[in-house]
Amino acid sequence: MRTITLNEFDIFHGPLILVNKDYPIQNKNNLNLVPYSPEYKEVQLEAKTSSMLWKLLESINCNNEIIPVSGYRSKEEQEEIFENSLLENGVEFTHKYVAFPDQSEHQTGLAIDLGENSDSIDFIRPKFPYTGICGEFRSKAAQYGFIERYSKGKETMTGIAHEPWHFRYVGYPHSYIIEYNGLSLEEYIQFIKAYPYEGEPLSIKSKGTEVKVFFVESKTDKTVIELSNNDLYQISGNNVDGFIVTVWRQCS
Ligand code: DAL
Ligand code: ZN
Repeated sequence: MRTITLNEFDIFHGPLILVNKDYPIQNKNNLNLVPYSPEYKEVQLEAKTSSMLWKLLESINCNNEIIPVSGYRSKEEQEEIFENSLLENGVEFTHKYVAFPDQSEHQTGLAIDLGENSDSIDFIRPKFPYTGICGEFRSKAAQYGFIERYSKGKETMTGIAHEPWHFRYVGYPHSYIIEYNGLSLEEYIQFIKAYPYEGEPLSIKSKGTEVKVFFVESKTDKTVIELSNNDLYQISGNNVDGFIVTVWRQCS
């Protein structure tokens, strides 16, 4: 067995952190950001998010039909966008479409606004339809770890209006479980608590691999997790109260 020891601040890191009006971002430094491309080097993303996004775009043979509109934002950039939107669009619009500083998942580097390429692209609400190449992108997004973060019908939970252009990297199989069950990220953070470390994990079998997912509550001092030596694993904080552990095992 191998023993993994986590501290209470580790819940603020990882691809499954929930950042919203109730749970502001805590981890603002040490982000591993990379430019989206030489052409769009001002758009930065967390490295794994960027590499998975490129794999997804390549899988649908996308050249320039989809373009990155907004990726990582510092707190200062989010403040500026928020203030400018208040002036240009008013309070109601801004509260629907722009998160308060420190409540934006753009500050994590795990979120990207995408637009269908055209002569004029709206920075806050780019067009990203459910048809054509954008529809193809959507249909494959979960396979590559992405979810549409602000879906229709989830507005009261997310605190944000429906945003068809805003995608969030959470990683596979979480993206698949979220999409299959029609959950918001807020709901997924609760849903996964039904699979605690001490009980039965959620299990998915696909292509000769078994993936197990379970929740570990954070202890005030140290949280200890025991895993088998042979398992490939990932641990992500949820930015709320614990960790989501994903374990991959080859089926014999
Ligand atoms: N448009 C999203 C909600 C943001 O500002 O983070
Ligand atoms: Zn966005």
